[in-house]
Amino acid sequence: MDENTEFGDLFALPQDYDSDKESSVDTTKTTRFTTSRNQWAIDIVTLAKKHSLWGHEIWNASKVLADYLEDHNKDGDNNEQALIRNKSVLEFGAGGALPSLLCAKLGAKKVVVTDYPDIKLINCIKKSVEINNSGNVVDVTGYLWGRDSQELTSLNGGEQFDVVILSDLVFNHSEHKKLLASCKQVLKKGTGVALVFFTHHRPWLVDKDMDFFKVAESEEFGFTVEEVASEYVGPMFKEDPGDETIRGTVHGYTLRH
Ligand SMILES: C[S@@+](CC[C@H](N)C(=O)[O-])C[C@H]1O[C@@H](n2cnc3c(N)ncnc32)[C@H](O)[C@@H]1O
Repeated sequence: MDENTEFGDLFALPQDYDSDKESSVDTTKTTRFTTSRNQWAIDIVTLAKKHSLWGHEIWNASKVLADYLEDHNKDGDNNEQALIRNKSVLEFGAGGALPSLLCAKLGAKKVVVTDYPDIKLINCIKKSVEINNSGNVVDVTGYLWGRDSQELTSLNGGEQFDVVILSDLVFNHSEHKKLLASCKQVLKKGTGVALVFFTHHRPWLVDKDMDFFKVAESEEFGFTVEEVASEYVGPMFKEDPGDETIRGTVHGYTLRH
């Protein structure tokens, strides 16, 4: 049985999905998120109804990633630099875009936020940028993983990015190689770091989620992978099938090349 149909349409990309056919107007809601470290208040606009690509939720991975960004934004000993301050940041599959919106508050010099090129998703992110007064450093654009990334780097003065953010994307197994190809194109060689935070939403597919990192380390991509976080925060949806401890834990990894 197909992994995406085994439990209804959980995380399936509908076969007939066509963003052009969807209306550009939809009901939205605004959620105020207060970061747990420095208490930044961030207003996040999302679609009020379920979107078939899951960009309507603020996923646990993005909340744990927000903590990680705040915790690593200080200059440290041994010439360690703040992770975000004065750095360029790119986010893939941003949905609510919490990490990107926070990076603007944390002093990033440039933030490029991307999501699937569906005007409804992109308009929500643009609205969030506007109401958080972050338009001076943030650009928002549609981007399909695996496509040419020149438009993204051109928004950063033609340069690759210091930090690339992937929050809750590895469940999409068929897209691993495309996502990694995009990371490879946009991440600065040597000093750049990609932050990959996620939850195993389907405990019976943990190995398939983790294949992302095997492929990342393969000769084809040549990334160095390091585990940097693991935190139990509780499951997003209690009623979903499978072990709650697994579904409620967020994992964080870095990729470098
Ligand atoms: C589970 S949501 C995660 C949203 C957000 N990053 C978070 O952590 O709250 C997955 C996101 O990936 C995006 N996405 C799915 N397939 C994509 C593709 N092929 N190219 C670009 N974005 C895609 C969806 O639109 C959605 O915003």
